[in-house]
Amino acid sequence: MAALKHIYGSGEIIVPTLTWVSDIASVLQNGFTPVFVDINPKNLCMDDEQVIAKFSDKTKAVFITYVQGFNGLTDRLLSVLKERNIPLIEDVCESHGATFKGKKLGSFGLISNFSYYFAHHMSTIEGGMVCTNDEKIHEIIRMLRSHGMVREALNERFKQDYIDENPDLSPDFIFAYPAYNVRGTEIGAVIGRNQLKRLNDNNDKRQKNFAFFLENLDSNKYRTDFDLEGSCNYAFNLIIKKPDPVFRDKLEETMRNAGVEFRRGSSGGGNQLRQPYLKTVIAENEWEHYPEIEHVHFYGYYIGNYPDLDEQKILLLCDLLNKV
Ligand SMILES: Cc1ncc(COP(=O)(O)O)c(C=O)c1O
Repeated sequence: MAALKHIYGSGEIIVPTLTWVSDIASVLQNGFTPVFVDINPKNLCMDDEQVIAKFSDKTKAVFITYVQGFNGLTDRLLSVLKERNIPLIEDVCESHGATFKGKKLGSFGLISNFSYYFAHHMSTIEGGMVCTNDEKIHEIIRMLRSHGMVREALNERFKQDYIDENPDLSPDFIFAYPAYNVRGTEIGAVIGRNQLKRLNDNNDKRQKNFAFFLENLDSNKYRTDFDLEGSCNYAFNLIIKKPDPVFRDKLEETMRNAGVEFRRGSSGGGNQLRQPYLKTVIAENEWEHYPEIEHVHFYGYYIGNYPDLDEQKILLLCDLLNKV
């Protein structure tokens, strides 16, 4: 978002209601206006029709989050974005290895980002990665991650222009932007490069685990009709079918008593519009207009899915959940 600010100035960014806080915080921090969209219950990502309906002449980008490993792209969305020349920014933090039509998510947009926080498909303990094919954005992001320092850029012409324009400054210390210090560390890189070797195998195992989990879950009580095409989940999504608070309390008690760790609200705690940091940004009770995320907010969970999890344990978990 900081790179987009330098290119586009201000405007609207279309964002999901179900995402991690940083996706919306970065929009606000960089002076853009977030425009919210409800989720598609089949993949928990932004509903593509609603994204298209929210386009305006102020739209600067669509910032999609691939929630919990699901693909959220459609041909319709990609073709309208292309037609209207609106850049796609992809948050792949929860979906390393997921695909749309056989092509990896994170390779469709102008910019994509990955997180290596330790709960995700692979970890460098903390850290992440930004990808782009755009040379200018690449240079800007290299500088932004390192105090805005021009010497971090790779293109010699680009650097020389700054040096020529600032003859009084030491060429080693030209700061182009008020920026950040978010460089990856050597130790993180060593850990990450080793994890990369196992990533595909581990992703296959997680995909099998998730399919097995859904096959054994009672579809009268829980949603099992997710769109799994291309998905690569690192978590089991557990969404109660009917909005029944009594059932929900019983489910939580059952999981707690059995020592099953869970998170309510799925990614980032559910409906972002209910969070205090947005109180002064959006209209009062704005959250009411997004019924799909509202359901996940109160009746959706995720439970850890890891490569070493064996089928017996998944069966045991499903049995526990189905008996509620
Ligand atoms: C979708 C999404 N985006 C961004 C982030 C932030 O990643 P990090 O914790 O590496 O800053 C997360 C973290 O869980 C996430 O789930």
